[in-house]
Amino acid sequence: MRRLFIAGNWKMNLNRAESVALAEAVAAAAGKADADLAVCPATPYVDAVSGAVRGTSVALGAQNMYFEAKGAFTGEASPTMLVDLGCKYVILGHSERRAIFGECDELINKKTHAAFQYGLLPIVCVGETLEEREAGRTEEVVGRQFAGSLAGLSDEQMAVTTIAYEPVWAIGTGKTASPEQAEEVHAHLRKLLTDTYTEQLAQQVRIQYGGSVKPSNAKELMSQPNVDGALVGGASLAADDFLAIAACLA
Ligand code: PGA
Repeated sequence: MRRLFIAGNWKMNLNRAESVALAEAVAAAAGKADADLAVCPATPYVDAVSGAVRGTSVALGAQNMYFEAKGAFTGEASPTMLVDLGCKYVILGHSERRAIFGECDELINKKTHAAFQYGLLPIVCVGETLEEREAGRTEEVVGRQFAGSLAGLSDEQMAVTTIAYEPVWAIGTGKTASPEQAEEVHAHLRKLLTDTYTEQLAQQVRIQYGGSVKPSNAKELMSQPNVDGALVGGASLAADDFLAIAACLA
């Protein structure tokens, strides 16, 4: 019922030529995947990648944005600029934004509302650190991020929001959450959605897993009932790996 959604988060990697080549390689084989696919290049190359995926089944996403449409915000990109470049999605509240750039739930919430205001679909990230997991605080932390980052969305907006559960200890570390660990948190998020909205709406929302997803573990992770796709970092930088992750689902 929920179509799987695999997005590649290229982070601050690849130059212009590499970005275009990767996007072209993904687009060339994307038709075979029984899932929605998106690529999220570094901001300076969004325009070039937009050209490479235009007219294909691969959607374009950005990795971040500010919540105002324009103005004196040195160094930022606005939602209207991203829409102008052809973006459909924007990743918000990634743990690297939270940890390195000090983004809090309140800011992420403003960005989430701005995404909808200007016509982008947000992929909102939540996830606990290793310390928080070991202290038994995973549900509390993820629950707080869920409530804060997604506050005030209408039913229609929530239904088309993607939540990405990315345990911080699994990002870029090679340590993946076990399918059971992922499913436990995804089921908890689904319950929060049910409690906040309705069961029917909760069943529509796609919850991606992220954190060292690779071809060898993708199938098992995504066969969990509440895991609806993946937000892929490192393995999205090689077309073969990214496509193999998508092909796992066919
Ligand atoms: P990773 O990154 O796949 O390299 O662990 C995932 C992410 O940060 O979105």
